[in-house]
Amino acid sequence: MTQIVRKVSDLRALVAPWQRAGQIVGLVPTMGALHAGHLSLVRAAQADCTRVIVTIFVNPKQFNTASDLAKYPRTEAADLALLRQAGVDAVFSPPPEEVYPAGFATTVSVAGVAGPLEGSSRPGHFEGVATVVAKLFGMSRADRAYFGQKDWQQLQVVRRMVADLNLPIAVVGCETLREADGLAMSSRNTRLSPRARAIAPALYAAMTRAVGDLRAGDPAAMQRCYDAVLAAGFDSIDYIDLRDGDTLQPLSAPNSSARLLAAAWLDGVRLIDNIPV
Ligand code: PAF
Repeated sequence: MTQIVRKVSDLRALVAPWQRAGQIVGLVPTMGALHAGHLSLVRAAQADCTRVIVTIFVNPKQFNTASDLAKYPRTEAADLALLRQAGVDAVFSPPPEEVYPAGFATTVSVAGVAGPLEGSSRPGHFEGVATVVAKLFGMSRADRAYFGQKDWQQLQVVRRMVADLNLPIAVVGCETLREADGLAMSSRNTRLSPRARAIAPALYAAMTRAVGDLRAGDPAAMQRCYDAVLAAGFDSIDYIDLRDGDTLQPLSAPNSSARLLAAAWLDGVRLIDNIPV
């Protein structure tokens, strides 16, 4: 049976006997609006762990504007139905004051990997992510945590934080799930109009072509990718960049861990994606 828990003390009471019995506890942190990508994280956690907890918390600290936070889809009833069906052991879905009680004064700030790309496009975003993820790790005391590679930079920020703070948890990055036309699955996709939804796969298509061009050493690869995304109907591009996948430092040519990362705006929705080069 899936237990729904809203208080940290109840989560602790649930997890403590599992850990006393030597069970491996897996955590899948989410902001809800669940889709097949989240469920693939759940399945990965279930394959590795004895118990799986999914968290649903729309973290106000990681949104740059009040309007973006307000627009974030909230579908708790449907999410809980999916998670019951998936057979997770517990869902932790706390109200904001349980996570950030009065007097809360700590921010986790990761330098380096958190600086460029999403870090400069969305100031404060990764402080919000690192702070809430550190709290979710501490609240759950899970042994393993599962994140999607779609948020590649977020995954590197979490890995850095865990290493730097010696947090006793293993971080697992799982493959991005895509729609049949290549669009990376995201809770934000539900906000795309039918016209925008038809345009959206052009980002992945342009990036895929750029990877081939970059591997072939074509100096026009990046410009062609920009042009293709805008020509397809995207309104603007925050970045399309070739980076080292571990350090997120810029690269002028692919290396063994190179990744192409992109963020672009379509009809008021900001889509991100990344692929190995
Ligand atoms: O990737 C997300 O959904 C969020 O950034 C996370 C990791 C749940 C933290 O709020």
